[in-house]
Amino acid sequence: MKRVKKGEGTVGVGDAVRVIDPLGFPVEFFHEIDRAERLIQRYDIRHGAEIARLDHFNICTPDIPAAYDHYKSLGFGCSETIEGDEHELYAAWMYRKQTVHDVAFTGGAGPRLHHLGVATHESHQVLRAADIFGSLRKEHHIERGPGRHGVSNAFYLYLRDPDGHRVEIYTSDYYTGDPDHETYRWNVKDDRRRDFWGNAVIESWYKEASPVLDLDGCPQPIADAVLDESAVQVGADGLG
Ligand SMILES: [Fe+2]
Repeated sequence: MKRVKKGEGTVGVGDAVRVIDPLGFPVEFFHEIDRAERLIQRYDIRHGAEIARLDHFNICTPDIPAAYDHYKSLGFGCSETIEGDEHELYAAWMYRKQTVHDVAFTGGAGPRLHHLGVATHESHQVLRAADIFGSLRKEHHIERGPGRHGVSNAFYLYLRDPDGHRVEIYTSDYYTGDPDHETYRWNVKDDRRRDFWGNAVIESWYKEASPVLDLDGCPQPIADAVLDESAVQVGADGLG
């Protein structure tokens, strides 16, 4: 850890510790949080995609094995990977809660935030969100999808917010809580890995991401990727 600040940016009660992790991302550790009203059965106040919770962060980092090793050292499991023929790592999905991931690594220049994933309950709510964007003539905020991922099996829709930051509406991945859960490994040349139906992954999705700030609010310097998944000429992706 490069730097530590105590008690700053606290999201709940008690002490929080903010650090820049070895990958260059600001993270905050806390052990206590304010309780909120239970909203699970407040159907009357649900709107749009009916977002239920934060699901995951997806981060761009140049060195996927280093990211994997760091999160493994924190006790994270690995649900799925994208690998080359020699098992070189292009991407990995890692979890603490018992779903596919809390954090995923997309190989690319970094540290940058690729997207924030928020969960809804069912796939029809993802479709409804896309329809609402069309109705409002905000279709240009839809970057990719709707579709079903190969990795995670989740149903997805990628949106860009007015500042260009990427948000994924995500649902229907699977349980990973069995203690002997095995990592599922996708080959980087399998064109179902990013979209199970083989639909193309557009270039902006691979190339564009949000910079991250250090503890003083300054942009972190960005290093180029070691491996570039988008450079692998495969099936529907067609990028190279
Ligand atoms: Fe995601």
